[in-house]
Amino acid sequence: MRVAVAGATGRTGREVVAEAESRGHTVLPVSRDPEGDQRDRAELDALLREEADVLVDFTVPEATVEHVGAAAETGTPVVVGTTGFDDAQLDALADAAEQVPLLRASNFAKGVQALLRVVRAGVEALPEYDVEVTETHHSGKRDAPSGTATTVLDEIDSAREDALERVYGREGHHERDPGEVGVHVRRAGTVRGEHEVTLAGDDEVLSLTHRAESRRVFAAGAVDAAEWLAGREAGSYEFSEVLA
Ligand SMILES: NC(=O)c1ccc[n+]([C@@H]2O[C@H](COP(=O)([O-])OP(=O)(O)OC[C@H]3O[C@@H](n4cnc5c(N)ncnc54)[C@H](OP(=O)(O)O)[C@@H]3O)[C@@H](O)[C@H]2O)c1
Repeated sequence: MRVAVAGATGRTGREVVAEAESRGHTVLPVSRDPEGDQRDRAELDALLREEADVLVDFTVPEATVEHVGAAAETGTPVVVGTTGFDDAQLDALADAAEQVPLLRASNFAKGVQALLRVVRAGVEALPEYDVEVTETHHSGKRDAPSGTATTVLDEIDSAREDALERVYGREGHHERDPGEVGVHVRRAGTVRGEHEVTLAGDDEVLSLTHRAESRRVFAAGAVDAAEWLAGREAGSYEFSEVLA
């Protein structure tokens, strides 16, 4: 398969290139030009139309929206790993998914898919317990909280009858409100990605943690998704469908 990789020189994109090549795919890097400007749109359209079977994107939201627009234009299936989109950008991705197959995941680690199921089971079993979410990433990460933390928070909400109010960090003098979920973000060193959900009641604590030990795990999941997506109907797909 011919796999176009946007962000091919980035931390995750480099791993995607290595993973795709190790599986015998031909990789087409889609990088910015040496001045750091986005690739010319006509050139990008031509590359996707003539040379790519699928596009995998790990860049920044504004670049991803541009790349996905080109993929929609040229009928190229697209796997999106970028996180941190605003609502308008998410709408643009949804529009593209009406024309091409599009799979977006905030985390391509299989263990995180399992974490989501375990978190749901924990929240359903312990509905009166306090819930706190903590994530840690390397100091170069731009968006906070991480896309994965937001996915975990959405899962917690959907497992409960009432939505919890998200409180981002705490300071000052007041007690914890039972209707809130604390969200804690740490940025330090080279940490690949760690997510912890704490469920605490009287005299006991249940901690559920996922830790990515290398970016290879994201690359492997993204290439699995690319192989699965190529040749499907237009629409929005989830990583859980690939694993199923
Ligand atoms: N879904 C997942 O499993 C998962 C896992 C890890 C990371 N991520 C997400 O993937 C994205 C990339 O993360 P990363 O750590 O690989 O980032 P990174 O090392 O900063 O790489 C991003 C790459 O994007 C490209 N790019 C295109 N337009 C850009 C612009 N305007 N500004 C900066 N870079 C631009 C650059 O590559 P070129 O110069 O080659 O164009 C850059 O190297 C983030 O949103 C991150 O949260 C998702």
